Amino acid sequence: MDTTPRAIRSVKGFADLFEPWSALFTRMEDTARRVFGAYGYRELRLPLLEYADLFSRAIGAETDVVQKEMFTFPDRGGRLVTLRPEATAGIMRACIENGLCGRESLSRIFTCGPMFRYERPQKGRMRQFHQIDCECLGLVEPQADAEILLMLLHFLRELGIRDLVLDLNTLGCRLCRPAYGRALTAFLLTLSPEDLCENCRRRARTNPLRVLDCKEAACQALLRDAPLLPDHVCPDCADHFAAVRALLENQGVACNLNPRLVRGLDYYNRTAFELISSAIGAQGAVAGGGRYDGLLAQLGGPDLPGIGFACGMERLALLMDEAGRNRPDFFIAAPRAAGTALELAQVLREAGLCGEAAFSAGSLKSQMRQASRSRARFCLILGEEELAQGTVTIRDMDKATQHPLSRTDLPAWAAERLV
Ligand code: HAM
Repeated sequence: MDTTPRAIRSVKGFADLFEPWSALFTRMEDTARRVFGAYGYRELRLPLLEYADLFSRAIGAETDVVQKEMFTFPDRGGRLVTLRPEATAGIMRACIENGLCGRESLSRIFTCGPMFRYERPQKGRMRQFHQIDCECLGLVEPQADAEILLMLLHFLRELGIRDLVLDLNTLGCRLCRPAYGRALTAFLLTLSPEDLCENCRRRARTNPLRVLDCKEAACQALLRDAPLLPDHVCPDCADHFAAVRALLENQGVACNLNPRLVRGLDYYNRTAFELISSAIGAQGAVAGGGRYDGLLAQLGGPDLPGIGFACGMERLALLMDEAGRNRPDFFIAAPRAAGTALELAQVLREAGLCGEAAFSAGSLKSQMRQASRSRARFCLILGEEELAQGTVTIRDMDKATQHPLSRTDLPAWAAERLV
């Protein structure tokens, strides 16, 4: 009988993030601090665990997130707690509990960290995933909507991420949404209930807007002729939406008006948006957000408006990785000169580059293979000839070209790489 202990595996949908992911995450967080800081946002570190009713009250009892995706369990005292599926509800709770939105009427807050949703894992969809989340409380003006979108796009530009489609919609407000709800219910009543999925049959009665968010292809097909939100919003909401669009247009931001965008969480009203990439497969939404005036009051706080967004860090990392960023600058292949390789690597790092040197006694061929695996931009080769002549051969790994360089010129060569 085999008595070797079975290796313990990670929980399904929970990943270990080694390089390059961990480095990409650090870069995203550093960039978020710098860019969001310039817009007056301050960082908040939130607990991962909250009482379960925070999420059912904030996100909505009929949403997929609350109904199917939360990791909820009783703690040892018997109270139901939930691993946070998103950050907005926790930020609202923290602001109310710490009197933040009472003392100052304007708060701009951001947070980063892991979120948890019990979804079917696939590329870009995990059960533990990470978000960078920004919330702006206290501003009702359309300029606030435009500014937060400009900030999000600024942040993504700094990460080198472009070519995303910005889907935009208006979801109306607490005054006009009920009339839309009635129009939608009237439409749903024209359908045969048995053609809708079980969830939609129930939601048609309890929260008809959620039917629009159903992922079942059959339901989606039936909803093709459903009334559209922008056709039913009140004049104030229509004016607000027109102003947001005009402000974005003035800033050269192109939007795709998507009247079917409802978002998967109940707290939204007025502006709702998503940024979509076509480069990372089926899970292409890299960020989503919108306005949620009334949410703070609904959770027992002051009646302040709010708007925010969250980016999915795994999805952003896929785009950053796709673009070939975050590569080491150098790899030093030196089959018989580990000591010199160590010295040169130090020179290059002191000059601001990043990379590594091979210390093993392997052949030049195997060290060159290591250089390719490391994805370094340049391989510095120290063979017999180079050692004898006090030079190093610099190979551009992308162009497959190479040239000799005197070792004394290495700091200057490194400085050129930095500009
Ligand atoms: P959300 O659309 O549910 O919004 O999530 C925001 C982003 O998180 C998505 O666009 C996606 O990139 C990422 N994401 C969501 N679920 C997963 C998953 N299972 N695996 C990987 N990435 C995922 C919210 O969470 C709102 N709280 C955003 C917000 C902030 N609205 C206002 N303020």
